[in-house]
Amino acid sequence: MTQRITKAVIPAAGLGTRFLPATKAMPKEMLPVVDKPAIQYVVEEAVDAGLSDVLLVTGRNKNALENHFDRVAELEATLERKGDTAKLEKVNESTELADMHYVRQGDPLGLGHAVLRARMHVGDHPFAVLLGDDIIDARDPLLTRMLAEHDRREATIVALLEVDPDSIHLYGAAAVEPTDDPDVVRVTGLVEKPTADVAPSNLAVIGRYVLRPEVFDILDRTEPGKGGEIQLTDALMEMAADIEGTGGVYGVVFRGRRYDTGDKLDYIKAVVQLAVDRDDLGPELKPWLAEYVTGFDLD
Ligand code: UTP
Repeated sequence: MTQRITKAVIPAAGLGTRFLPATKAMPKEMLPVVDKPAIQYVVEEAVDAGLSDVLLVTGRNKNALENHFDRVAELEATLERKGDTAKLEKVNESTELADMHYVRQGDPLGLGHAVLRARMHVGDHPFAVLLGDDIIDARDPLLTRMLAEHDRREATIVALLEVDPDSIHLYGAAAVEPTDDPDVVRVTGLVEKPTADVAPSNLAVIGRYVLRPEVFDILDRTEPGKGGEIQLTDALMEMAADIEGTGGVYGVVFRGRRYDTGDKLDYIKAVVQLAVDRDDLGPELKPWLAEYVTGFDLD
């Protein structure tokens, strides 16, 4: 029988060098997207998909992440005294969201290494991985779809996004075969950050995974790959070959809204898009934006 997945692992120990100097003393996962740190959107997504046991893999500067999901007695007392229940609710939202756990990565030796640090907590069960700087719009649920696909196929599931061939070198690219479902493909191979001319497709692996516990043994013996880091992609490649009968790898092709908050341009787009859609900000922001862009010369 399929094991129900209950645990989510969120790697948030990267150095965030693309966002320096903002990330010099603060993890990039704490950058505010409108008025919430990126990491809160990601934890909310896990909880919405039914995964309320959340393990954050943290690195240096971990205090801000832990504090965000913890109580702040002084602040709560002040807001209570003032009778400001709206703000108090906002403060408490992240505290009450999930059953949070933390593990340190030590040296940031790559995403594969960060996932391996979850082994003790996860044990011998399938689990979900959500990258802490990758936001999936709550109106386009992806993880729920991936969990259902895992139940059906008992295999590793990755999320794929069709990207412009010019930007495939920023991602892992998947070689795929069709299945009987138009939104699901079988992954036959993966190439980490290929140039457009050697990329097997323009289907990019994005930051959501449903992994089988066998991945830990594979990661344990995976040598550092591209960039000297232990790559999750390398372990997934082995899972795709399905030598040990672990069901192979399938990809759910995502056609919804996704924001990569670790990238400066995407981060700015995320803030604007999400703010425009908000009832408290959109009505004032939209006309201002419309007026602002009329002055642009796009040549
Ligand atoms: P990235 O490659 O986007 O993270 O990793 P980075 O290395 O922090 O980014 P730049 O390129 O220097 O700006 C994707 C996810 O994996 C985590 C990151 O925190 C991010 O959520 N990660 C990466 C780790 O947890 N540990 C690592 O060793 C590397």
